[in-house]
Amino acid sequence: MTITTQKPLVRIEGLHKYYGQHHVLRGIDLTVNQGEVSVVIGPSGSGKSTMLRCVNLLETISAGRISVGDQLIGYREVNGRLHDLKVKEIAAQRREIGMVFQRFNLFPTRPRCTT
Ligand SMILES: Nc1ncnc2c1ncn2[C@@H]1O[C@H](COP(=O)(O)OP(=O)(O)OP(=O)(O)O)[C@@H](O)[C@H]1O
Ligand SMILES: [Mg+2]
Repeated sequence: MTITTQKPLVRIEGLHKYYGQHHVLRGIDLTVNQGEVSVVIGPSGSGKSTMLRCVNLLETISAGRISVGDQLIGYREVNGRLHDLKVKEIAAQRREIGMVFQRFNLFPTRPRCTT
């Protein structure tokens, strides 16, 4: 039996991302609740990695908002206006978000032969 608390952990709202004229993410909405496992499926180049990179601030977003837990990612909201977080604050947010890169074997994992 799976028990989920239905508490939103990751919330993506109206996310857009452009690379120049290339409109890669066109209004993505996604909520992942605490304890849930979600799978994002799509053709190569459809923007799966770009979306994940936006969540941990490896990319700046073009529009929309992303929150993880109680924190708005990359911005502080004051009186309804968004202000960029400082580099140190962004680093603190990144430390709380894990990401496994597609090419997970960037580093040698085999034990080194010592004979
Ligand atoms: N840094 C970048 N600069 C310009 N275009 C980019 C950049 N990163 C990704 N793109 C483009 O954005 C689109 C989405 O790429 P992305 O890597 O997010 O796709 P994906 O769904 O993860 O693909 P795959 O299944 O191959 O991993 C592609 O057209 C890609 O060429
Ligand atoms: Mg990818």
